[in-house]
Amino acid sequence: MKNNSIGFFDSGIGGITIWESVNRLLPNENTIYLADSKNSPYGKKPNDELINISKENVEFLINKKCKLIVVACNTATTNSINFLRKSYNLPFIGIEPAIKPAALNTKTGKIGVLATKGTLGSSLFEKTSNIHGQNVKIIEQHGLGLVELIEKGIYSGSKIDSLLKEYLNPMLENNIDKLVLGCTHYPLIKESIKKIINESINIIECSEAVALQTERVLIKSNLINSGTEKSKKLFYTNGDKNILNSLLNNKFEILMV
Ligand code: DGL
Repeated sequence: MKNNSIGFFDSGIGGITIWESVNRLLPNENTIYLADSKNSPYGKKPNDELINISKENVEFLINKKCKLIVVACNTATTNSINFLRKSYNLPFIGIEPAIKPAALNTKTGKIGVLATKGTLGSSLFEKTSNIHGQNVKIIEQHGLGLVELIEKGIYSGSKIDSLLKEYLNPMLENNIDKLVLGCTHYPLIKESIKKIINESINIIECSEAVALQTERVLIKSNLINSGTEKSKKLFYTNGDKNILNSLLNNKFEILMV
């Protein structure tokens, strides 16, 4: 069991930002990443459809004997993690917009959250922002169209810049000092974001926190891989192999689902 893989899924390549952090912290773990590009973008889909998609992806990873699953997507986590935890008998790690550290550390009392419609409209997001955002102003923004460009391998340029300006300017006008990236695709366009916002604004994303939580849960569940064989990293996609391949610098074989 300990040698079994950690499974990951996302609506395509965004969750690679989470996989990288987990892999950096836990290089001895075998991993299986599923890029569900066929169903991308998740951000515009209703809750019941997101639950069905998550279910299918989780069953794919369970069939590959995964011992723990990282839902490497804010939209899938905020819409389906409760269902997944109730339905399957293995540990799940989720990711949701890091409102708590942003709200705790803001000096201007204003924080921005850029995320998908599905995340911002979820009851889990509402709950988290009610708990941690009581004394701060949260400026929320749907990142419409960004995931579609990123999925094509476009991380910079005029199209990305003009969407980002449209989405970030209202936050800048409101004097935010923390910008929460609430979608795992957005760290891939961090350099474009940095060009638009002031240097004094901190960009907050929680891939390292997810990696640490993954380690804690593996230790607690006695599931850390203690084997001495070189670990295996498998990548599956139901979309374009080339985009995933170039993001991974052609270092791994990509398998089709
Ligand atoms: N990467 C995902 C997230 O973190 C989903 C983006 C999408 O497919 O809309 O929300």
